Amino acid sequence: MGRAVAVVTGSNKGIGFAIVKALCSKFEGNVILTARDEERGKAAVEKLKAEGLNPEFHLLDISDENSIKTLASFLKNEYGGLDVLVNNAAIAYKMADPAPFSEQAEKTVQVNFFDTLNVCHHLFPLLRPHARVVNVSSSAGSCYI
Ligand SMILES: NC(=O)c1ccc[n+]([C@@H]2O[C@H](COP(=O)([O-])OP(=O)(O)OC[C@H]3O[C@@H](n4cnc5c(N)ncnc54)[C@H](OP(=O)(O)O)[C@@H]3O)[C@@H](O)[C@H]2O)c1
Repeated sequence: MGRAVAVVTGSNKGIGFAIVKALCSKFEGNVILTARDEERGKAAVEKLKAEGLNPEFHLLDISDENSIKTLASFLKNEYGGLDVLVNNAAIAYKMADPAPFSEQAEKTVQVNFFDTLNVCHHLFPLLRPHARVVNVSSSAGSCYI
């Protein structure tokens, strides 16, 4: 079996960054901080390295299928599988955003649901039998009519 590995999507800042930080000190394996922007991702990794932690960086734009496939191949080749997947990457429009509701709804559902689902389609085949998947969600995702 390959080395244990955890992947956190959208982890260059916010909650994802905090999850990577916590996993770096608690998870017995390698932790991969992913970001859709290489510069922001590498800067986040450096920040944690300055604190004595050792995350690895990999590019991942969940809205780009080739980017997901590249990560899947990397995990397969380097680790032979995946032990922890944290689906954290998401977008949220600000309350004051003037974009029409229809546009906000379409983009939000595309990224937060369909793009996350696509990550699952490509990475689930790599999950080892004991693996864990965490889907970071929001109460805003519930529909109250
Ligand atoms: N903060 C809250 O109060 C709250 C409440 C409920 C639920 N949540 C959930 O918690 C999670 C994290 O939220 P947060 O507050 O930490 O948000 P955040 O600070 O805005 O961070 C979101 C992260 O997702 C990344 N991201 C967005 N689109 C992406 C894409 N297509 N591919 C890859 N990465 C992408 C962002 O990258 P960039 O830096 O490149 O934009 C960023 O790293 C989300 O799932 C959110 O729905 C948060």
